[in-house]
Amino acid sequence: MDTLILGIESSCDETSASVVKNGRYILSNVISSQVDLHKKYGGVVPEIASRKHVELIMPVINQALEEAGTPLDAIDAIGVTYGPGLVGALLVGLTAAKAIAYTTGKPLVGVHHIEGHIAANYLQYPELEPPFVCLVASGGHSHIVQVESYSKFEILGQTRDDAAGEAFDKISRAIGLGYPGGPLIDRYAAQGNSSAVRFPRVQFEDGSLDFSFSGLKTAVLNHLNRLAQTGEQVNIPDIAASFQQAVVDVLVRNTIAAAKMKGMGKIALAGGVAANSQLRSQMKSQAQKHGIEVLYPALVLCTDNAAMIGCAAYFEYERGNISGLDLNAVPGLKL
Ligand code: KG4
Ligand code: ZN
Repeated sequence: MDTLILGIESSCDETSASVVKNGRYILSNVISSQVDLHKKYGGVVPEIASRKHVELIMPVINQALEEAGTPLDAIDAIGVTYGPGLVGALLVGLTAAKAIAYTTGKPLVGVHHIEGHIAANYLQYPELEPPFVCLVASGGHSHIVQVESYSKFEILGQTRDDAAGEAFDKISRAIGLGYPGGPLIDRYAAQGNSSAVRFPRVQFEDGSLDFSFSGLKTAVLNHLNRLAQTGEQVNIPDIAASFQQAVVDVLVRNTIAAAKMKGMGKIALAGGVAANSQLRSQMKSQAQKHGIEVLYPALVLCTDNAAMIGCAAYFEYERGNISGLDLNAVPGLKL
């Protein structure tokens, strides 16, 4: 018998619903992005995001069921992100999920957003099984995770200040490219020289695999200030490429070190920053030198989506980890 999960995601600025079969196959994955709405503010405005989720959540859920050709009756469980994320945004998806679970009597499965990002790899590679090392880099997180099993994780390294995606967004704003920064910097960097400016690559002396991106951000801002003072022209592609190279270098260096430390032959990428073209290609070529295979999901499964939530929910459902109807949003939920 197939197991069908209705997945719901609303932790930030994407309203998304999916139907996932047996934790591996996407029957539908409807994503309504609010990017255009937040663009003019240079970032996500939490209250606007919540209001938009309220408007979109039921149409998006209905569309996901329709596209999958699955009546609600045929769904086995409802999986929903309950943290981390923006509290008002999370509450919209969570409340919809709870209402559906209550009225249908179907089980509710609360999903950790980061667990969802990792699970995107199971959708891309239906044969993939743990263990492996996963680099989760998004707007809010930069974690190196040892994925022991479908539900057991060990954090090997994480950012001590800004997340990688946050750094992309801040630098993009500083050089006038706009929001969201990652895809724009990625695009401009392709035309630039990545050795034009040598920005710092932080490595902690205690041998830790943690990241720090705030010094890099300051270094780019200082460089821009110097150019402004001397009246030199800002070469946006060169700055984008040099900044991106500094981020990619540390993400690749620490993730490969983590995989070697754990004796893992596989590295998976996850989260919005995993969509970065240089991160994907450089992780692959560097890891190859150590005999390590690199996996990454399709672009649409890297950024926020409900298919990854439906997938993670399946594995929690299979091991009987069902949530109560008193499940609350936890904005700072730990992995
Ligand atoms: O996973 P995600 O959609 O949302 C969070 O959970 O945060 O990640 C969004 C982040 C943003 O900071 C965005 O700038 C970044 O992912 N991002 C990228 C790229 N595409 C999205 N960063 C670098 N290169 C990209 N191509
Ligand atoms: Zn995310």
